[in-house]
Amino acid sequence: MEKYRVGVIGGTGMVGQRFITLLTQHPWFDLTVIAASCRSAGKTYEEAVRAHWALDTPLPEQVKNMRVLNADTDVARIAQQVDFIFSAVDMKKEEIQALEEAYARHECPVISNNSAHRWTPDVPMIVPEINPEHLHVIEAQRKRLGIQRGFIAVKSNCSLQSYVPALHPLRDFGLERILVCTYQAISGAGKTFDTWPEMVDNMIPYIGGEEEKSEQEPLKLWGHVENGVIVNACAPSITAQCLRVPVTNGHMAAVFAGFTRKPPVEEIKARWAEYKGRAQELNLPSAPKQFLHYFEQEDRPQTRLDRELEGGMAVSIGRLRPDVQYDYKFVCLSHNTLRGAAGGAVLLAELLCAEGYITRR
Ligand SMILES: NC(=O)c1ccc[n+]([C@@H]2O[C@H](COP(=O)([O-])OP(=O)(O)OC[C@H]3O[C@@H](n4cnc5c(N)ncnc54)[C@H](OP(=O)(O)O)[C@@H]3O)[C@@H](O)[C@H]2O)c1
Repeated sequence: MEKYRVGVIGGTGMVGQRFITLLTQHPWFDLTVIAASCRSAGKTYEEAVRAHWALDTPLPEQVKNMRVLNADTDVARIAQQVDFIFSAVDMKKEEIQALEEAYARHECPVISNNSAHRWTPDVPMIVPEINPEHLHVIEAQRKRLGIQRGFIAVKSNCSLQSYVPALHPLRDFGLERILVCTYQAISGAGKTFDTWPEMVDNMIPYIGGEEEKSEQEPLKLWGHVENGVIVNACAPSITAQCLRVPVTNGHMAAVFAGFTRKPPVEEIKARWAEYKGRAQELNLPSAPKQFLHYFEQEDRPQTRLDRELEGGMAVSIGRLRPDVQYDYKFVCLSHNTLRGAAGGAVLLAELLCAEGYITRR
């Protein structure tokens, strides 16, 4: 199979490094361009990341000598050289919006890890197992931008990729009220214990903007397409508290759920065990075989033991039990830089290729 040529803008950052690592071993994608800020442009990738390579795995040999391009000033050149790009730049929201739109206008599809375009009504925000039908808005987006091949598609915030997958198969029980507390790893802030020593033996009860995202983004994921835009769902009502915890990778969530028709425990577990999404139906290379794993042991899931499940792409659930105020409570875990960031975006790109939204030039 001829591979798709792929670029990563923001390829030197924490999420970018995950993208590079995943793409160097990908069966469909060939990493041909890495771009970042003017601080890295012109250097080899190894020179650009040497001081801040953050992964446990070594820097892949085949990217060491790739010359980093400038994501801002080389737009036309990069768009020419690839079939699509992943975006993992960290800039001001308006700058990211403008930059991603510039690539789309150069007829280069953009799969973004950033939040900048998540609320643009004709930009689909996709978890492939949950709302693949939202891809239909791409046609309307192309019309608005006056382009044929380019578009922007985004993935949702990492915090909710642990609990929304667990709630999704239960929606038809009349999912009404959700209370969720998330316990989020420091890599979610682009940090390690070396770069954020204040986090050792510490918790910080504030992550800017995260609670709003955790409460509102699920309603876009559960929305429907109408007249070329996504109309948000009205329910459930969600309240969230998000805490930063001294963990390298893996976001945990403690969830309380109330239904209009309370299902039996065994029915919930059966729904989780049986759930398959479009990613599993299409057998996409990065799709976990089993999306939702339920653990019967009462001390699971655990971050260190379970975050890497199915390549960090599966969601772990445990401790399902009745609650005195809500109907049920349980915990969930997902890997924030794999399922929650680069891995989720790679899976989205696979879906876009499989469904014909991205083609080779
Ligand atoms: N970390 C996570 O788990 C996570 C999860 C979901 C979403 N996100 C989002 O993903 C994005 C990247 O996060 P991160 O943690 O990887 O950040 P990061 O480690 O700070 O990396 C930022 C990247 O953006 C590049 N960059 C910064 N300013 C730029 C500019 N003016 N023009 C072009 N490139 C520029 C940097 O290039 P240089 O190296 O050259 O400076 C670097 O490649 C952020 O928007 C973040 O909110 C992160």
